[in-house]
Amino acid sequence: MIDVGSISVTDLEQDPYPIYRELRAMAPAVYMPCLDVWMIVRYAGVDEASKNSDAFPAHVERSPTDRALGGVSMMTTDGEPAKQRRRPFDPTFRPRAVEARMPAIFDRVSNELLDGLEQRESAELVSEFFEPLSLLTLAYALEIDDVVDVPTLRRWFSGLAAGVSNYEDDPAKIALCDAASDEIEVLLRPKFDRGGSLAHLIEGPDAPDDDPISWIMPSLKLVLLGGLQEPAHGGATVAYCLLANQSQLGMVRSSPELMAAAVEEGLRWTAPIGNLLRGINPGARVEEMPLPEGERAVIVVSSANRDEEAFGSDADVFDITRQGPQHMSFATGPHYCIGHHFARVQLRMAISRLLERFPDVRLDPEREVVFWGHEYRSPTELHVDLR
Ligand code: HEM
Repeated sequence: MIDVGSISVTDLEQDPYPIYRELRAMAPAVYMPCLDVWMIVRYAGVDEASKNSDAFPAHVERSPTDRALGGVSMMTTDGEPAKQRRRPFDPTFRPRAVEARMPAIFDRVSNELLDGLEQRESAELVSEFFEPLSLLTLAYALEIDDVVDVPTLRRWFSGLAAGVSNYEDDPAKIALCDAASDEIEVLLRPKFDRGGSLAHLIEGPDAPDDDPISWIMPSLKLVLLGGLQEPAHGGATVAYCLLANQSQLGMVRSSPELMAAAVEEGLRWTAPIGNLLRGINPGARVEEMPLPEGERAVIVVSSANRDEEAFGSDADVFDITRQGPQHMSFATGPHYCIGHHFARVQLRMAISRLLERFPDVRLDPEREVVFWGHEYRSPTELHVDLR
């Protein structure tokens, strides 16, 4: 049996999956000393805990996310206050709205970015395709594209990301995050003026009369963070999975409708967000196992996605023909990702365009693809030969 006391954060960041396999064999939840949290690791327990916010509330004391975003957001509160902060974003992100407005934008932005690679022999797809794609399409979705550009959005995204993962109170990360937050406030507050593109977020019945902009701002920053980071990570992962598995790439090339299955399977195989932080309330149990009140839990969706009980003995294998339960990469329960359809359509279209425009695209054999991270995980770079 694995000695959990010997596991370091770097071990988890390098490759958490063999560790999670051992933890799943031990118990539904295992205390991880290097993170000072209880990790809920099996598919059944992840499903149960995600849906039980009475036992496992999203609101935790001293949340780095709340500090980074400047207050409570839809993701760090529960019940009606969470719903009130989420509803204003529904008209932009509900699947029907995404279908009506976004495919043309995803298509245009993908093609423009690929135009820029047209004359090239090789490319690094994270920084040259997936990141600018997710930054620009989110700016168009929120109708803030007239006040931001790609470098600005990159700055926001790295500042906010540094802040939300700053469990160690690193002053350098706080400074980076505060600078991004200040810039967001300056550029986006005018968008809340009557007739502005963000005004609808505070015009509904849920917004308080007193300072509604400060009330919605943490949730807006959360949407910016989620929308900027996760599709880029997910896109790089799915593209890697296909390029590294020639037979499955061949299936997608001959039956393009399989791209949807490829995106789902890539997101299952490596979840862009692996861990969801929760509190532990009195009486909390997972799969009948009691957990200690007042401590912190993480719901490890990336471990659930590789659970042999749910996905079979080949759960570690990328297989677009896999039949199985829904993966947990967009979570489940009240905090189910608001951007799930936005991300899914974006990735299906972007990777399809990439394969159509560059029929010979393949991984650069000289550059090893390195995945890194356990809370957030993706290839750090994805070098390809384009022709
Ligand atoms: C592949 C892409 C994406 C993945 C894997 C992903 C994953 C997740 C996960 C796991 C959660 C649950 C967090 C928790 O419960 O603690 C979540 C929530 C959320 N995501 Fe995403 N996300 C993606 C794309 C997006 C996009 C494009 C947006 C913005 C448009 C977005 C915005 C959000 C927001 C605002 C929440 C909080 C929802 C709530 O608490 O009600 N995400 N996402």
